[in-house]
Amino acid sequence: MEAQKDSKAELPETAVEINAEAGKKYSFCTCGQSKKLPYCDNSHKQYNIDTGSHYRSFKVFPKQSARMHVSSSNWEKEG
Ligand code: FES
Repeated sequence: MEAQKDSKAELPETAVEINAEAGKKYSFCTCGQSKKLPYCDNSHKQYNIDTGSHYRSFKVFPKQSARMHVSSSNWEKEG
């Protein structure tokens, strides 16, 4: 019997598990400034003005309900 790989072992420390529902819109933060991580709360707008950056949210529109893991290198690990 072949051992199954633990897929979570390869995830970044900041990865968050989401049970995405079909037909919904998900807007994920890419800048790391959101107070509602992993979701965008539009904090990137002021951050872009302050820093000259060009961050935008990453939008996902699942066609099927699915569990997914999302992460950004700009999110700080909790704890
Ligand atoms: S708050 Fe980070 S991308 Fe919108």
